[in-house]
Amino acid sequence: MAFLKLSIVLVLVVSIACCDGYPDRNIVGQDLGATVGQASDCCGICLGISGCYAYVWDSGVCYLKNATGPVSFKAGAIVGLPCEGLKKAGKQ
Ligand SMILES: *[C@@H]1O[C@H](CO)[C@@H](O)[C@H](O)[C@H]1NC(C)=O
Repeated sequence: MAFLKLSIVLVLVVSIACCDGYPDRNIVGQDLGATVGQASDCCGICLGISGCYAYVWDSGVCYLKNATGPVSFKAGAIVGLPCEGLKKAGKQ
């Protein structure tokens, strides 16, 4: 049941999630945690975690970051930053 509830919350968050994606970029360190997921899942997961300011998706894993840099090049990875409007809407 707890899992079902979590799924519903995630789906709701994902449906309003908005992040700008930057291909072939990585954020070094600053990890809050990591979770297996599709690139399209990462933004919603990040927005659901307080203190998450960015994510890196790499090889099927969302790395949740508490900072937006330092950014480096990494082929195949994607950096995502929550959209400006959402940040202002209370994601601090
Ligand atoms: C981000 O998390 C790292 C540990 O993963 C920590 O060392 C660092 O101080 C945190 N930075 C901020 C801005 O909270």
